[in-house]
Amino acid sequence: MYDRQLIEKAREAALRAYAPYSGFSVGCAIESVDGEVVTGANMENACYRLGLCAEQSTLTAAQHAFGLDKVARIAVAGGDGSGASLSGNIVCTPCGGCRQAILEAAQLSGNDVEIICANGNGDQVENHRISELIPHGFGPANLGDAA
Ligand code: THU
Repeated sequence: MYDRQLIEKAREAALRAYAPYSGFSVGCAIESVDGEVVTGANMENACYRLGLCAEQSTLTAAQHAFGLDKVARIAVAGGDGSGASLSGNIVCTPCGGCRQAILEAAQLSGNDVEIICANGNGDQVENHRISELIPHGFGPANLGDAA
């Protein structure tokens, strides 16, 4: 799938976010090495700290659909989801916790997962790799000496 198509899936998914507290809707689309795509969005909670980011909810869907070890590419878009389409000018990059969650998939698969980050309008895009977003991270590979 082209970057543009994956971004559009993330932007569409953001419209199904549950984000009444922040007002910031994030959508995510994850493509497997075989071209299968799952989507998800952030889901907040009245107990604010229990809110779930779009990337983590979508990684859960990816595990169920094809397995974390098959994650190849991830598109993320965030902004104002109150209109007919996601809007906003500021590119949404994964938070630190989501980078850690993506690193888990990356180390399982051995893929330096590609992360395509977009603003709400979808006209500003940054392409990254997980190794760039969380250098020297701690992942399953670091647990090799566990008893
Ligand atoms: N959010 C995500 O879903 N992903 C990120 O990587 C950054 C932040 C959500 C969490 C919260 O619901 C809202 O955006 C504002 O922080």
